Amino acid sequence: MKRDTTSIAVVCFGVTAVAGLMLAGLFSTGVSLAQDNAAAASAIFMDHECQGCHSIQVAKVELDVGDLEPDEIDEDAPDLSGVGLEHEQDWIKLYLKKKVKYEGEKHEKKFRGTDEEFETLTSWLSTLKTEPK
Ligand code: HEC
Repeated sequence: MKRDTTSIAVVCFGVTAVAGLMLAGLFSTGVSLAQDNAAAASAIFMDHECQGCHSIQVAKVELDVGDLEPDEIDEDAPDLSGVGLEHEQDWIKLYLKKKVKYEGEKHEKKFRGTDEEFETLTSWLSTLKTEPK
């Protein structure tokens, strides 16, 4: 009888430990995926010269006009640190394809990357929910 209790205890402990490890594994994969996604997305943001007009303070993306022409720059464009507070990914997608207007106007620049880049970029933007300073 005593032995049964002990082995049940051992099995229970084993199951809990394995489940715990699996959960921890899942959790850290989730976190690193989110980080990879953010890194990939901010690289796409820079590749497509979004930062000629927008900074994203929360992601340490500074305005960088590089060698853009003056007509490719707009100093009134907002910092995008909190863009997810106001807009969902679906809206951001339509807006960046110039299919919807914002405050009566279409976005100045149409996104011209691949669908995959577009998905990565817009899903990340929609998670940015820090009120810009
Ligand atoms: C030529 C300048 C310019 C470039 C380049 C540019 N934008 Fe914009 N963007 C603007 C301006 C200006 C606004 C604000 C429009 C308004 O308030 O009516 C804006 C607004 C936005 C908004 C909505 C912000 C909000 O809070 O409502 C998003 C999202 C956005 N841009 C993303 C991007 C992305 C992603 C890129 C790169 C593919 C990009 N922009 C490139 C000028 C630019």
